Amino acid sequence: MDFNLTEEHIMIRDAARDFAQTELLPGVIERDNTQTFPDSLVRKMGELGFMGIMVDPKYGGSGMDAISYVLIMEELSKIDASASVMVSVNNSLVCYGLEAFGTEEQKQKYLSKLATGEVIGAFCLSEPEAGSDATSQKTTAIDMGDHYILNGTKNWITNGGRADVYLVIAQTDRDKGHRGINAFIVEKGMPGFDIGPKEDKLGIRGSDTHTLQFNDVKVPKENRIGEDGFGFKFAMKTLSGGRIGIAAQALGIASGAYELALKYSKERKAFGTEISNHQAIAFKLADMATEIEAARMLVMKAAWDKDQGNNYDMSSAMAKLYASQVAMTHTVEAVQIHGGNGFVKEYHVERLMRDAKITQIYEGTSEIQKIVISRGILKD
Ligand code: CAA
Repeated sequence: MDFNLTEEHIMIRDAARDFAQTELLPGVIERDNTQTFPDSLVRKMGELGFMGIMVDPKYGGSGMDAISYVLIMEELSKIDASASVMVSVNNSLVCYGLEAFGTEEQKQKYLSKLATGEVIGAFCLSEPEAGSDATSQKTTAIDMGDHYILNGTKNWITNGGRADVYLVIAQTDRDKGHRGINAFIVEKGMPGFDIGPKEDKLGIRGSDTHTLQFNDVKVPKENRIGEDGFGFKFAMKTLSGGRIGIAAQALGIASGAYELALKYSKERKAFGTEISNHQAIAFKLADMATEIEAARMLVMKAAWDKDQGNNYDMSSAMAKLYASQVAMTHTVEAVQIHGGNGFVKEYHVERLMRDAKITQIYEGTSEIQKIVISRGILKD
C-alpha cells in the first residue's frame, strides 16, 4: 500500500483548491440565497478540465484517473457543494455512461461536448413513484421501428434546467421487468420535452433541480444506449461510479466544515482562553479529524478499485454510506463549535450542514447503500 499522492495528484488537488478559493468562495452565500449558479463558472470548470476528468482526451476529456476525480471533488465541495454536484453528475453519470456504453457516433456527437463543459448533462432515473425502487419505472418508451415514443415524468433531476443532454431511463416492455428497461439520450428542445419549475431546496441551492415531463417525445433509435433491455444495468453500473463522486462530495463538505471549526476554535475565546483549549471542543475536533480521515480512506479505496479495474459496487456504497454520515454528523458539530455564529450565514457552516443532508439521499439513500453492501457480503 502506498498512501502518498503522486506529484501529479498533488498538483491537481492544489489547482482545484485554488479554483475553489478564488472563484467559488466569493459569491457562494449569495448563490445559495438566490438559488443561482452563473454559466461563467461552469465554463471555467470546463476550461480547467473538471467536467470530463476521466474521459479519454480523444473525446475532449482530461484523461485523469478516479483518484484525481475524488481529489477535485473534495476540494470543490469544501467550498461549494452546488458546483461539485454539477461536476459529479456530468462526470460519473453522464460522461462515464456514454464513454463506457455509448456507440462511437454517440461519443462523437455528445461526449466530446459534455467532457469539455460546452454542454452539461443530466441523469434521469428517479420518478414520483420510483426513487429507491428503480425497477418500477412508469416512464414508457414505445418502439416504433426507427424511433421510440417517450412518455412520463422524472423528478428531482440535478442540472434539470441547465442541461442540454439528458440520459433518460424508461420502460420499453413491462412484462420483462428490469430487462425491459432502456436508457436514451434526449436533447433539450425535442418537441414534447418540458422542464418544470426549479425546486426550492434545503441545500445545494445553487444546483438546479427540476421535474421533467415527456409527452410523446420522438427519440431516434440511434439514441438508445446499449443493447435492448440494458437500461437498468446501465443505471446500476453508472450509479456505482456516481456514488464515488457523491462520497467525495460528502467528504469535502465534512472536511470543509472541520477546517472552519478548527480555525474558529483557535480564535474564539471563552472563559479566558481559546475554546480549542477546552476539552469539550478539543474532543469534538479529535472525533471530526479521525472520522473524516476514515471517510477519506474509504473514498480513496473506492476510487482506487475503479482505477485498478476491480469491481467497485461495494466499495463505492461503503464510501458513500460512511462519508455522508460523517458529513451530516460533523457539519452539525461544526455549527455547535461556532455557537451563535454557526447559525449565521456568513460563517458558512450552516450552509455546509444543509448541503450535507442530500448526500445521504441522492444517488441511492443510505438505506439503499446498506442493501448493496449486505447483498455483496451475503452473496457467497
Ligand atoms: N452492476 C451491474 N448489474 C447490476 C448492478 C450493478 N451494480 N446492480 C444490480 N444489477 C443487476 C442484477 O444483477 C440484476 O440482474 P440479473 O437479474 O440479470 O441478475 C438486475 O440488475 C436487477 O438487480 P436487483 O434484483 O438487485 O434489483 P432490485 O430491484 O432489487 O434493486 C437496488 C437493486 C440496489 C435497490 C437498485 O434499485 C438501486 O440502486 N436503487 C437506488 C437507485 C438510485 O440510486 N437512485 C438515485 C437516483 S439518481 C440521482 O440521484 C442522480 C442525481 O441527479 C444526483
